[in-house]
Amino acid sequence: MNSQAEFQDRLLSLGLARVSEAAAIASAALIGRGDEKAADQAAVNAMRDQLNLLDIAGTVVIGEGERDEAPMLYIGEKVGTGKGPAVDIALDPLEGTTLTAKDMPNALTVIAMAPAGTLLHAPDVYMEKLAIGPGYAPGTVTLAMSPAERVQRLAAAKGGSARDITVCILERPRHEAMIAEVRATGAAIRLITDGDVAGIIHCAESAVTGIDMYMGSGGAPEGVLAAAALKCMGGQIYGQLLFRNDDERARARRAGITDLNRIYQRDDLVTADVIFAATGVTEGSILKGIRQEPGWIETETILMRSKTGSVRRMQYRAPVRG
Ligand code: FBP
Repeated sequence: MNSQAEFQDRLLSLGLARVSEAAAIASAALIGRGDEKAADQAAVNAMRDQLNLLDIAGTVVIGEGERDEAPMLYIGEKVGTGKGPAVDIALDPLEGTTLTAKDMPNALTVIAMAPAGTLLHAPDVYMEKLAIGPGYAPGTVTLAMSPAERVQRLAAAKGGSARDITVCILERPRHEAMIAEVRATGAAIRLITDGDVAGIIHCAESAVTGIDMYMGSGGAPEGVLAAAALKCMGGQIYGQLLFRNDDERARARRAGITDLNRIYQRDDLVTADVIFAATGVTEGSILKGIRQEPGWIETETILMRSKTGSVRRMQYRAPVRG
């Protein structure tokens, strides 16, 4: 990439941080108010407004849903001024709508940007996911292994026993057997009620978060966002789409997916360098939540570029204008 393009890429990354920041600030007034929809809508509106200020010819590939079900930031929507580079945008204006409505930890606003055609157009179906942080040989754990085997393999690679491993899993009835199997190994489990993008990012900072591995099914779009984060921070993720009916299979085919059984690795989900930004909404273990005091608001954003491996944490503080 020539130096001008590189410069633009760096500038754009700061623009992307402002986008996630704006979405978080917009949802601030709705933290703990019991209204998931209003919190999401506020974040969507703000994210879209900010995104449209960026000099990009962007296409939303991971968004709020298909065009007939999402009026804004739908899949295929063109965003940006149209004057800059052609890019794919993956976003989740509020990852953890229920976490926000209930003021529970680790709700985030999330956005990723990469050259056009390089982010998987994941349909809105479930994905079986497995993720670990950096420093492990490729294939240390795989989706083909049972949950217990994954724990044993990771423990051996870490140089300890299963008791030294903590696995993060979404607390859902569909995960009961997995949870029981992991517990039987002696590993610890951090159960989360929502927010698997944050759950997966936790693996990349295991010294801080105490999480070594993430496993279980969740949204496929969130899988692409998590892969973008791990591409910047290091770490491995495997994902396989799960289909409950023909309508979901048709969604995948419409998104251009031909092999419905494919197991995706991180660099299949995100095939080129990516920029990733996330801002904390509620208090969390990877990002501080929004702080509000009379007349002031403060946020924390993580901004990362896979090309350089740079990870910036940005504090923003500004007066609230009424
Ligand atoms: P929302 O922010 O849309 O509420 O999604 C939160 C989430 O927990 C995701 O992080 C996760 O991938 C998905 O929902 C899990 O879906 P389900 O609640 O159907 O198990």
